[in-house]
Amino acid sequence: MAKAPRTTYVCQSCGGVTPRWVGRCPSCNEWNTLVEETDAGPPPGSGVTRQTRGRVVNLETLDARGEAPPRMPTGIAELDRVAGGGIVPGSALLIGGEPGIGKSTLLLQLCASLAKAGHRTLYFSGEEAAAQVRLRAERLGLSKSPVLLASETNLSNILATLGDDKRADLVVIDSIQTLWADMLDAAPGTVSQVRAATGSLIRYAKQSGAALLLVGHVTKDGQIAGPKVIEHMVDTVLSFEGDRGHPFRILRAVKNRFGATDEIGVFEMAQQGLREVSNPSELFLGDRDANAPGAAVFAGVEGTRPLLVEIQALVAPSALGTPRRAVVGWDANRLSMVLAVLDARCGVSLAQHDVYLNIAGGLKITEPAADLAAAAALLSSLSGSVLPADHVYFGEISLSGAVRAAGHMTTRLKEAQKLGFKRAVLPAAGEIEAGGAKITLQRLSHLKELAEQIGPCQ
Ligand code: TYD
Ligand code: MG
Repeated sequence: MAKAPRTTYVCQSCGGVTPRWVGRCPSCNEWNTLVEETDAGPPPGSGVTRQTRGRVVNLETLDARGEAPPRMPTGIAELDRVAGGGIVPGSALLIGGEPGIGKSTLLLQLCASLAKAGHRTLYFSGEEAAAQVRLRAERLGLSKSPVLLASETNLSNILATLGDDKRADLVVIDSIQTLWADMLDAAPGTVSQVRAATGSLIRYAKQSGAALLLVGHVTKDGQIAGPKVIEHMVDTVLSFEGDRGHPFRILRAVKNRFGATDEIGVFEMAQQGLREVSNPSELFLGDRDANAPGAAVFAGVEGTRPLLVEIQALVAPSALGTPRRAVVGWDANRLSMVLAVLDARCGVSLAQHDVYLNIAGGLKITEPAADLAAAAALLSSLSGSVLPADHVYFGEISLSGAVRAAGHMTTRLKEAQKLGFKRAVLPAAGEIEAGGAKITLQRLSHLKELAEQIGPCQ
């Protein structure tokens, strides 16, 4: 006798299951995340089957075929760089990003580029009608490219289309949250639906050798919506970031089974779609006002790539009991730390001042080596003295006030030299390749030396 379907409540944040509804998920303590779902047998892709007897599988050695996986170069160098040198056939890639950031635009450009190179590319749009996608293609000047397009949200229909005799090289699903499997009694976008759809599509990709590209929505705090399990299922997770007020977009690898995760790709959103930016430093320093106090150029590195950006600080006497601290593009905790070190180790107190820190161009910096540049910007704003326009700064500050070595020192210096900077303020420790860069070096061992040099008036 068939079992009656059981009703369970599934947390949309962590995937936890409870037998009855509660306001707060017992597994992850998130509020209002439980959604009613009917459990009608194991969902496809969950790995649970009714079969008990398995078949014998082939066992292989680790060095059986030592070649690197074959790659499909996309023709978009910035994307190739992030993916680790091209898209791997048979792999699944998830790309997340805020609405309106340009995911659909990037993927349409990718499809067109691969289609032009002779690959069979299929674009399934669950969010937009075919006419809307066509309009975008027209705007991008890609209406003539041989991309195959469908507006579809039903998983079975998509799998049936993919299962026809012709092999696809790239399949784009925009987005995974709009798909629904009709065998499941849950709304599109719920954990079971997203998991089932991802599972079935990945199975298709692995069997057919087509590369699968999924678009994922993000929640308000930047996580890809749905449980972490989706991120575990795919081979690569990319995040497409940027500030909608700025044209720059950064593509970042969050997870990559086929390459490094610290590379970034830089794009600019223009009238005709996304344009690759191969010299990001020039762009980020483009409209800087070098004559204002409170601006310091940070010589950063993202992955293996140098990136020069301006860090802007504004320090103003506070009228509030608890002065304001506001940070855009950097970690607020690191700012607090730099302020505390300036106070305790260098005698520069900002306790009566409001402090604002901004990374120009809408970029987000996570490197600890930005500490020294942030400190220079703060000291400059406090003292009102303009930092020389041809200086760059980098180095991590420890709680004792010591300036610690940063990675890739030579790369940073070479980039600064290339862009016409004359002097670098950097840590005393750390190796620099001989003949690496012809730029004057000022090496610091303690933050106090910088505070004395910039000379804040107290
Ligand atoms: P879109 O790719 O639809 O974003 P997503 O799929 O991530 O939601 O891009 C939407 C934004 O990009 C839209 O606000 C307009 C802008 N845009 C341009 O500036 N130039 C262009 O050529 C295109 C196609 C879009
Ligand atoms: Mg879109």
